[in-house]
Amino acid sequence: MIKKAIYPGTFDPVTYGHLDIVKRGVEIFQELIVGIAENPKKRPLFTVEERREMFIESLKEIGLKGKVKVKTFNSLLVEFAKKEGAVAILRGIRIVSDMDHEFTMASLNRKLYPEIETVFLMPSDDYAYLSSSAVREIAFYGGDVSQFVPKAVERRLKEKFKNLSQSR
Ligand SMILES: Nc1ncnc2c1ncn2[C@@H]1O[C@H](COP(=O)(O)OP(=O)(O)OP(=O)(O)O)[C@@H](O)[C@H]1O
Ligand SMILES: [Mg+2]
Repeated sequence: MIKKAIYPGTFDPVTYGHLDIVKRGVEIFQELIVGIAENPKKRPLFTVEERREMFIESLKEIGLKGKVKVKTFNSLLVEFAKKEGAVAILRGIRIVSDMDHEFTMASLNRKLYPEIETVFLMPSDDYAYLSSSAVREIAFYGGDVSQFVPKAVERRLKEKFKNLSQSR
């Protein structure tokens, strides 16, 4: 049986921190699927389709295009994982404060679907404090995000905030 894992998130937008986890994940699992949660409750800046396109463009930049599948879902994570036949859910832990939330989710997911394991990976120290929300905040005020996100994402952020400020 192929050991498949799902790496779920909102990825609004994908950052070098997320990509660091993807790189580590492909070394461990035979198949890695990035699962982009539509997550309307979080009121994402980018549509789920835009987030998917940016992820694929970013994979191209790091030479992993075709090695990792990128799918979107709008259901409970465990339902998506079951449908895909995944044996594990991959999550990234940045700082100790992530653990509270991550352990709660992992515990609930285990209750909902005991067959699946949650696997936590730690990113490089360079990305330990990096989040999509920080990137959105910096880009909103016109700051330089080039060390945090791939070129394709940087371009999309510029476009998005230009269009938003024009429609205001
Ligand atoms: N810099 C990072 N290093 C390692 N893991 C990360 C990093 N950023 C996010 N992750 C992990 O990736 C998964 C998906 O995260 P998510 O899509 O919520 O991104 P986020 O950066 O936390 O976004 P937001 O700031 O909008 O909450 C989670 O497991 C999260 O802990
Ligand atoms: Mg988060």
